[in-house]
Amino acid sequence: MKKIKLWDLPTRLFHWLLVASIAALFITIKVDMDNGIGWHAKIGLFVVGLIAFRLAWGFIGSTYARFFQFFPTPSKIIAYLKGEWHELGHNPLGALSVFALLALTAAQAGLGLFTSDDISFQGPLYGLIDGELALTFTGWHRWLAYGLLAFVGLHVASILFYKLVKKHNMVIPMLTGKTEVADNEAGKAAKGGGGVALIIALVIAILAVWGASGAWIPAPPPPAAEIQTPAW
Ligand code: HEM
Ligand code: HEM
Repeated sequence: MKKIKLWDLPTRLFHWLLVASIAALFITIKVDMDNGIGWHAKIGLFVVGLIAFRLAWGFIGSTYARFFQFFPTPSKIIAYLKGEWHELGHNPLGALSVFALLALTAAQAGLGLFTSDDISFQGPLYGLIDGELALTFTGWHRWLAYGLLAFVGLHVASILFYKLVKKHNMVIPMLTGKTEVADNEAGKAAKGGGGVALIIALVIAILAVWGASGAWIPAPPPPAAEIQTPAW
C-alpha cells in the first residue's frame, strides 16, 4: 500500500473554515452577545467568499476537487449502488450531498445579504430590493438555516456510517489530504491546482465578497437642506 495525495490543502482549508463559520453563524445569532448580528453579517460575508472560492476551485483546483471529476451522473450512481464503483474522491452519493451542501450554503448566505432583523440591522444589499421582497427573503433565511442544519446532520451521519459500518475513515483524508491505495494505483495522486490557480480563485473570492458587501452601491445623497421660508 502507498499513501497518495487526495484532497489539496485549499479544499481542506475551505471545508474546515466552512464548518467553523457555520458554527459561528449559529452562535452569533442565537447566543446573547454584544453586536452578535454585526459579527453574524461579517462571518456571513466570509462564507460568500468561501463559496465563491470553492466554485472557482471546482474548475481549476486539483484532480479530486474538480466538479467534473465527481459529478454524480445516473450511470455512476447506479454503478455505486450495485457496488461497482471503485474510484477515488467523492463517491457518487456523497457528491450529491456535496452539491446540495454547497447550494444550500450559497442560498442561505445570498438571502442573508437582503435580510433585516427589524431592529437596527439591514443586510448590505437590503436597499436594492423592494421591502416586501426583503421580508420574504428574511423569512426564507430564517427557515433555510434549519434546512441547512438538517443536511449537515445527514452529512455527518453518513460519514459516521462509513466509519462504523463500512470501516472506512473519510475524516483522516479530509484532515491530512492523503489516502492509502495499492502500489499499482499510485499514479492516481491528485495533480494540478497550483499557485496560479490559487491566486485566480482567491481573486474571484475577494471580488465576490466585495460585490456582496455592497461597497459599490453609491451612498444616498445627503438630505436636502431645509427650505427657508421668508417671514412674510
Ligand atoms: C457545517 C458543517 C459542515 C458543512 C457545511 C460541510 C460541508 C462539506 C462539503 C461542502 C464537502 C465537500 C468538500 C469539497 O469537495 O469541497 C464536505 C466533505 C466532507 N466533510 Fe463536511 N461539512 C460539515 C461538517 C463536517 C464534519 C463535522 C465532518 C467530520 C465529522 C465532516 C467531514 C467531511 C468529510 C470527511 C468530507 C469528505 C467526504 C468524502 O470523502 O467524499 N464535515 N463537507
Ligand atoms: C451561510 C450563511 C448564513 C447562515 C448559516 C445564517 C444563519 C442564520 C440563522 C440560524 C438565523 C436565525 C434564524 C432564526 O430566526 O431562528 C439568521 C438570522 C439572520 N441572519 Fe443569517 N446566516 C447566514 C448568512 C447571513 C448573512 C450573509 C447576513 C447578512 C449580511 C445575515 C443576516 C441575518 C439577519 C439580519 C438575521 C436576523 C433575521 C431575523 O430577524 O430573523 N445572515 N441567520
